Amino acid sequence: MAEDLIITGENKQEKYEALIPQIDALTQGETDEVANMANIAAALKETFDFFWVGFYKVKGDVLVLAPFQGPVACTRIRLGKGVCGTAWQEAKTILVPNVELFPGHIACSSASKSEIVVPIIRENKVIGVLDIDSDTLHSFDEIDQHYLEQLIALVSARI
Ligand code: SME
Repeated sequence: MAEDLIITGENKQEKYEALIPQIDALTQGETDEVANMANIAAALKETFDFFWVGFYKVKGDVLVLAPFQGPVACTRIRLGKGVCGTAWQEAKTILVPNVELFPGHIACSSASKSEIVVPIIRENKVIGVLDIDSDTLHSFDEIDQHYLEQLIALVSARI
């Protein structure tokens, strides 16, 4: 049985520091990938109140929507398309301070203003992405990138 999250940090760095070990504990004994992605999306949403947070998984030649929290979203994204497809193609995190300035950004919601996408890499292959959207500009920086990459590396075998 999962415990409630305990997030005591003042700033986002402290919140990530508190959250990551709890996500580690929450996903450690669970072998179901959907269950783990669902709880990770919920934990990030609960901690940071992001506008949209969720996963896309590589299925053949396309990214397909996986567990998320937030408004309904596009279900399929091709390699190299949008921020998610670019993070997949380049196998690296993409920080987008202003989505209107990212060529090819896919607007699942007009309320989305900034975004970060972290690839999930397992055995040197991108198997999906974590996508987080904010309804304000410039929401994400290197601190988010650092901790979200750390989180995804920690759980990449479980999602
Ligand atoms: N904006 C993303 C699409 C996914 S939604 O934001 C949930 C992109 O450009 O890939």
